[in-house]
Amino acid sequence: MRTEEARPVRLEDYRPPDWLVETVELDVSLDATASRVRATLTLRPSGSGAPAPLVLDGDALNLRSLKLDGVALPPDQFVATPDRLTIAQPPHRRLRLDIETVIDPSANTQLSGLYRSGAIYCTQCEAEGFRRITYFPDRPDVMAVYTTRIEAERTEAPVLLANGNPVASGEVPGTTRHFAVWHDPFPKPSYLFALVGGELACVEDRFRTMSEHEVTLRIYVEPGKERRCVYAMDSLKRAMRWDETAFGREYDLDIFMIVAVSNFNMGAMENKGLNIFNDKYILASPETATDADFERIEAIVAHEYFHNWTGNRITCRDWFQLCLKEGLTVFRDQEFSADQRSRAVERIADVRGLRTHQFVEDAGPLAHPVRPVVYREINNFYTATVYEKGAEVVRMLKVLLGPGHFRKGMDLYFSRHDGEAATVEQFVQCFADIAGANLTQFMLWYSQAGTPEVVATGSYDAGAKTFRLDLAQSIPATPGQPSKAPMVIPLAVGLVGRDGHELPLKSIDGGTIERGVLTLTKPTESFLFAGVAQPPVASLNRGFSAPIKLSANLSADDLRFLAAHDADPFNRWQALQTLATRLLVDNTAAFQAGRAARTDPGLLDAFHVTLNDGRLEPAFVALALTLPGEADIAREIGRDVDPDAVFEARTALRGVLGEHLAGPLFDQYRRLSESGPYRPDAASAGRRALRNTCLDLMVATRRGEAISVAARQYQAADNMTDRMAALSTLSLCDVPERAAALADFYTRYADDPLIVDKWLTLQATIPELATLDRVKSLTAHRAFSFANANRVRALIHAFALANQKEFNRADGGGYDFIVDTVLAIDPRNPQLAARLVSALKNWRMLEPMRRAHAQAALRRVAAAPSLSPDVDDIVQRALAQH
Ligand code: PHE
Ligand code: ZN
Repeated sequence: MRTEEARPVRLEDYRPPDWLVETVELDVSLDATASRVRATLTLRPSGSGAPAPLVLDGDALNLRSLKLDGVALPPDQFVATPDRLTIAQPPHRRLRLDIETVIDPSANTQLSGLYRSGAIYCTQCEAEGFRRITYFPDRPDVMAVYTTRIEAERTEAPVLLANGNPVASGEVPGTTRHFAVWHDPFPKPSYLFALVGGELACVEDRFRTMSEHEVTLRIYVEPGKERRCVYAMDSLKRAMRWDETAFGREYDLDIFMIVAVSNFNMGAMENKGLNIFNDKYILASPETATDADFERIEAIVAHEYFHNWTGNRITCRDWFQLCLKEGLTVFRDQEFSADQRSRAVERIADVRGLRTHQFVEDAGPLAHPVRPVVYREINNFYTATVYEKGAEVVRMLKVLLGPGHFRKGMDLYFSRHDGEAATVEQFVQCFADIAGANLTQFMLWYSQAGTPEVVATGSYDAGAKTFRLDLAQSIPATPGQPSKAPMVIPLAVGLVGRDGHELPLKSIDGGTIERGVLTLTKPTESFLFAGVAQPPVASLNRGFSAPIKLSANLSADDLRFLAAHDADPFNRWQALQTLATRLLVDNTAAFQAGRAARTDPGLLDAFHVTLNDGRLEPAFVALALTLPGEADIAREIGRDVDPDAVFEARTALRGVLGEHLAGPLFDQYRRLSESGPYRPDAASAGRRALRNTCLDLMVATRRGEAISVAARQYQAADNMTDRMAALSTLSLCDVPERAAALADFYTRYADDPLIVDKWLTLQATIPELATLDRVKSLTAHRAFSFANANRVRALIHAFALANQKEFNRADGGGYDFIVDTVLAIDPRNPQLAARLVSALKNWRMLEPMRRAHAQAALRRVAAAPSLSPDVDDIVQRALAQH
C-alpha cells in the first residue's frame, strides 16, 4: 500500500516531464517470492529547460543497487524510499541508469504490478502499476522503446512473453532456467508494458493485413481450455478486418497475443502486442457460455484490439485525458458490434447500459465530467462516465459533422498524432479543422458533469400547416459545478404522419437542420416546420443522438403510435419504455400509499402488437418486451425511493403482462424452438433471446404449467443460454423446482469456476429476504474465495448491484454486509474494494430510513483505520455535501 498521503492531482498543474526515457531494457528473473528486476534506462533532459532533479516513481519498491553511467551511485547522491527514487543533481545530459529491485509477486494481492494469477506470472500496469516493478517516470507522456528479457525455471514457466516481437530465447547455461527476449519497436508509455510467464497452452492462427503483412495470432490459456478459444479468435480476426475497412487501421507487429488469466481486476488490458484478459472474456463454448457471454467476448476482444491505435499508437498525455482512449475505443467497439450484429439492437443495449450505469453516476455524489480536472486516486476514474458517456461524446461528433467529415477527422487524428501522447483538445481540433467548424461550445461535453435535461413541446397549427417545436435545456448541479452553461445538443428528429409515413422536414425557421438533426445551442429555442399537411407525432432524439433526459408532450396515444410506426427502431423501443415507465412510477407510488395499482390496457395492446409483428427482428422484440429495470424505475423516481415498492410494481406488471399475453407468448415460445446445433451468431441468439423473454413472462404468472415448461427447458437444454435462462426465471419463484435445478446446476459444473460464478450470481440476485443469509453462507462455500476478483464480483458485487430489493433491505443489513466485505477486502485489493463500496453511492435517493442506514454504513467505512486511498476517496466523495 502506498505510504504517502493521497493528495489531489489537478489537470491545471500539468507540466511536461523534465526527463524523457529513450529506451528501457528490462531483465526480469521470475521467482515466486523474490523476482529480481534489472532496469537499464537511457534518459535525457527534455527541452532546453534548466537542470532538474531526476525523480522516479515507485510503489512498495525495494532498491538493491543503482548505477549511473555504469558506476555505482554514492549513497549521498540519491534518496530511495519505497515510493520514490530521487537524484537531486544528475548531470544535465543523456545518461544511463541501472536500477535493481526485488519484488514479491506471490504477496501481490492488489493485482497491480507483477503478480501471480494461480501459477501464472503476469503484470497489470495501467494506470500506475509499472512503478510497482521498477522506479520509473510512470506517466503516460513518457514514451520509450522497450526490450524485455525474462528468465524463469523452465518447468515452472515454459512460456515467457512480453510486448513486441520475439528476438531471442534459450537455456541459461549450467542452470534449470531459460530465457526469452522481446523487443517492441513502438515507443509506448509504461502503463502498456506487460510480461507473462507460466505453463500455458496456445491456439494459433494467422491474419493477412490489407497491405499483405502476415501476422501470427496467439491466444494463451490454461492447458485444456484451448477449445474454448474459438470464438475469441474469430472475433479477433473480424475486429482486425473491420478496423481496416471502417478506419483504415492496420496491425503493426509480426505477432498479436492474448493471454487469459483467472484473477484480474478488470475486463482486459490492451498492453502493446500482448493483451491480458480476464479469462471470463475469452473462454466460451456453447455448453459453458451464454449468448450474452459470446457477445461480450466479441466486444471486449475488439475493444482491446482497437486500442492498438486509439490508446497505444496515440496515447494520453496524462490521466485526465483517459476518455481520449477509452471513450473513443468504446465508440469504436460499439460500432463494430453494430456492424457485426444488429445496429438497432446494439444501440438499444448500449443506451440501456448508459442509463443504468452512467446516468445514475451522473445524478449522484460521484458525478464527474467526462474529462475530470482533479483526482485523488486515478483507479477510481475508470467509470461509466469516462467510458460510456465518453463514447457518446464521440458519437455526437459524428452526428453533428456527418459520417464523411467524421472519418476524415479520424484520419487526420491518426496521421497528426501518431506516436504522441495527446489531449482531448488535440482530438477535437482535428474535427474542427476538417469540418471548418467551431467546436468550442461542444467542449462543454468534456467539462460539464450531469445529464442535460431537455423539455420538448410540440404544437401543430392546422390553419398555417406548421409544426412548432419548443425546446428548453437545463443541466442539474453536480459536485463542484453549481451552475452550468448551455450545451450543444444534436437532436435527430422526424415527424411521423397519421398513416405512419415520414413527413418531409421542410423550411424550418429558427435554426438549421442537417441530415435530420436539429442542433440546440441555447437554453431555449424554437423551430418551425412549414408545409406540414397533417398533425404529426414528433419522434425526437432518434437513435439517442444525444445522451440526455428528454421529456416531450407526447400522449399515451402518441407513444403507442410511435411504438407501432416510427421508422426509427430506437424510438419504437423508447416509446414502449416511456409508457411502461410512466405506469411503473405511478404504481410504485400506489404501492407505497397502499392504493391499488392502475392498469394500462393500451400498453398491454402495444406489447401485444409488438410481439406479433413478424417484420421485427426477434432480438428487438425481446428488448421491447423487457420492462425497465428496478434501478431504472428508481432513477426515474429520483427521490425517497422505496425499492420494495418498485419491486412490487414491476413484479405485478410482469405478471399482468404474462397473463394478458399468455396465448401469444406460448405460441412464440413454441414457434421459436431451435432445431439443429447451437450457433452463436446474432440471428440465432436473437431467437433464443425472444423465446427466453417469452418464457420469463410466462413464468411471471407463477402458473404451474409455465413453471413446468421452465423446468423442462432447464433439463433439456443443450446450451448454456437456454439452461441459464430457464434457471434464472425459475430462481425468481420459491418453488421446489428451483431448489432442484440450483442443486443440479452446481453438481454439473462444480469444476468450472466461470460457470460456478453464474450459480453464485443467481443465488445472490433472488429477490427474497433469505438471500442475504444465503449470500453470507456462500462466502464459506468451497467454490468461493475472497482472493479471486471474479468470485467476489459474482457473489457480492452482484448482490449489491443486481438485487436492488435485498441490497436495500429496510433493516440496512445489505449495506452492513457490503461494508463488512469492503473492510475485509480493502487491505488485500483496494481497487476491488473501492468498486464494491461505490454500490452505496446513490444513498441520497432512498427513502429516509434506508438513507439513514446507508449513510451510517458509509460513515463506518470512513471511520475505519488505515483505509486505502481508493476506498477513502470513494467514501469521502460519497458522503460530501455539495
Ligand atoms: N484499459 C483497460 C480497457 O481496455 C481497462 C483497465 C484499466 C484494465 C485499468 C486494467 C486496469 O478498458
Ligand atoms: Zn479500454
